[in-house]
Amino acid sequence: MKVEDIKKICVIGAGNMGHQISVCCALAGYKVSCTDISQEMLDKAEAFAKKWLPERVSKGKLKQEQADMAMANLSFTTSLEEAAGDADYVIEAAVEKMDIKRKLFADLDRITPPHAILATNSSFIVSSEVAYSTKRPDKVCNMHFFNPALVMKLVEVVQGAHTSPETAQITMDLTAKLGKTGVLLKKEIYGFLVNRILAALNAEAMFLADMGIATPEEIDIAVTNALGHPMGPFRLVDFTGIDLAYYIGMERYQNTGDPKDKPSPLIVEKFTKGEYGVKSKKGFYSYE
Ligand code: 3HC
Repeated sequence: MKVEDIKKICVIGAGNMGHQISVCCALAGYKVSCTDISQEMLDKAEAFAKKWLPERVSKGKLKQEQADMAMANLSFTTSLEEAAGDADYVIEAAVEKMDIKRKLFADLDRITPPHAILATNSSFIVSSEVAYSTKRPDKVCNMHFFNPALVMKLVEVVQGAHTSPETAQITMDLTAKLGKTGVLLKKEIYGFLVNRILAALNAEAMFLADMGIATPEEIDIAVTNALGHPMGPFRLVDFTGIDLAYYIGMERYQNTGDPKDKPSPLIVEKFTKGEYGVKSKKGFYSYE
């Protein structure tokens, strides 16, 4: 298979990442079927596309024909069979829970055509953790986008020992077709490049706040003004999802048993209160 053979992409999950990855692929000319178990999430994803595309046209950033093509390319369904049955490429952006991902990859192996590549957009989990739930580990890899996926340019592609060079190359080629910059990692490492670097920064920021050395607001002011980051670590975790930070921490702790991998007390507190950040209108900041 070559990148030119990809006509239809299935995006699994209409959440924070999936809804924008879907629009990204549709804008690049691919037929996209976005699937989620929640009809409400799919409705929100569709409403986002219907609002965002015309806004880009009004801003002069997109031609009307491009917006129309993207909208026509998009479909939303709760049926995994319908979304993935004739897909050439699958991007899984479901919840960060290993058992759910493994079940999904086993289902995808059964449902998709034999030539289809199955990629995971997981923030941390390397694809060898899910590849062996399929009978095509050579066609499984990581394709990791950043939030907001329509804006952030980088995509990390990870070629595990099980991934064929062809799969990795097609994924890098697809990344370029989406107008993104790819980095190809030929060794698997939990969290890849960016999230490992971010995790180190976040761990220190959480430690300083947990110790009462500075408030989240003060730490964000320090990081944005001294390091030039567009958002400080607390604003950023509100934006990417405190629930995601919690699940990633718990998943990692369960794998390593190392207490320093546990989510920080501040993250646990926010998670327990259901304050997930922007998506629940409250996190470290309020978004009413
Ligand atoms: N969705 C789509 N587009 C968005 C957007 C969103 N949520 N937020 C902003 N944009 C677009 C705007 O439309 C605008 O586009 P234009 O310049 O072409 O008109 C552009 O982004 C800039 O927006 P604004 O001027 O309104 O706001 P900012 O200049 O503050 O930019 C931001 C917003 C791009 C989100 C910026 O604050 C930023 O870069 N933040 C850091 C994001 C980041 O670090 N992402 C990585 C997170 S880690 C991660 O993703 C890991 C993964 O595993 C979860």
